[in-house]
Amino acid sequence: MNGSTSAVIRVDGLTVDFKRNGGWANVLNDVSFEIGRGETLGLVGESGSGKTTTAYALFGYRRPGSRIASGRIVVGGHDVLTLSERKLRRVRGGEVSLVPQNPAGSLTPSMRVGAQVVEALEAHGVAAGAKAARRALEAFADVGLPDPPAVARRYPHELSGGQQQRVVIAMALVCAPQLLVLDEPTTALDVTTQARILRLLARVRAEHEMSMLYVTHNLGVVSQICSRVAVMYAGEIVEIATTEELFRSPRHPYTRGLIAAVPRLASPLQKEEALQGLLRRDELPPGCRFAPRCRHARAECFDRHQTPEPAGANHDVACWLWREIATEKRELVGSARS
Ligand SMILES: Nc1ncnc2c1ncn2[C@@H]1O[C@H](COP(=O)(O)OP(=O)(O)OP(=O)(O)O)[C@@H](O)[C@H]1O
Ligand code: SF4
Ligand SMILES: [Mg+2]
Repeated sequence: MNGSTSAVIRVDGLTVDFKRNGGWANVLNDVSFEIGRGETLGLVGESGSGKTTTAYALFGYRRPGSRIASGRIVVGGHDVLTLSERKLRRVRGGEVSLVPQNPAGSLTPSMRVGAQVVEALEAHGVAAGAKAARRALEAFADVGLPDPPAVARRYPHELSGGQQQRVVIAMALVCAPQLLVLDEPTTALDVTTQARILRLLARVRAEHEMSMLYVTHNLGVVSQICSRVAVMYAGEIVEIATTEELFRSPRHPYTRGLIAAVPRLASPLQKEEALQGLLRRDELPPGCRFAPRCRHARAECFDRHQTPEPAGANHDVACWLWREIATEKRELVGSARS
């Protein structure tokens, strides 16, 4: 972890379980990270790895059928897991804002979208009346919605998925939160709109020193917007580093596999690490959860649980063989050259 004292978010040992077959199944295990002021942490990992569960927990949301078994979450000085529901409601949408994976679900179907943004501004004391209405139109223009006054008069179902997504992003940004959490925010958007949103996020972040958690499958987006990246596998953070360091020297075999899957980002050697198989929650060993898919795995890996350890400045990795794997790669390069 980067250990900064000015962290806006500090998550410590977060462990979440879901009800399954009459018992509890673990979905997040001992997840810890920090996000500093003005910093964007990317959270990547394949489907089912626990990204949305982590994002929701920052708001004190428990998904149906789940429990937070242990851990602490401090956001902007609030100990989230001990706040009353009333205090949490005040914090949500004001100091901390969420752009969820399914934007349509976070809009009120029976209310015009302009009025919804005005309501958010008024509820958090940012602006009221005509000033709030003007701010709503500016916010719609900022996210590239054509004809903001016409959009403001529409109900959610009268907008396309991409337009709804932009309305939700506008609503999340309009109160200039200290922390913005975005869960796959640009998936329904075309490439041009996605680029526009990324530029807008970078601008707002700089203007307000806003901190962001950016959940995505897209490593290209991570390389554009994130200062650091946490890689999640089967409910655990297996690697966390600055973006530059992660792409230059990925240490965990899973991270290497993720990067290998993006030809533009992978070096020729990294391409050899292509991931095999799928994340199977029902087949996780007690030790390293990645072992069944890891081509470097040894017998001990299946029983030996891994916690992140330093692998460089601002770089932690949860693989006890990371040094050997890195050396093996260097030797391969050396023999290929000789
Ligand atoms: N309500 C629920 N009940 C039981 N299990 C759940 C529930 N919601 C999520 N899960 C399980 O928790 C795990 C993590 O899910 P989560 O949605 O956090 O993953 P994710 O990384 O966001 O995936 P995606 O990339 O598909 O959005 C998955 O194995 C999923 O099956
Ligand atoms: S601990 Fe072993 S199985 Fe896990 S990633 Fe490292 S080498 Fe692979
Ligand atoms: Mg998700």
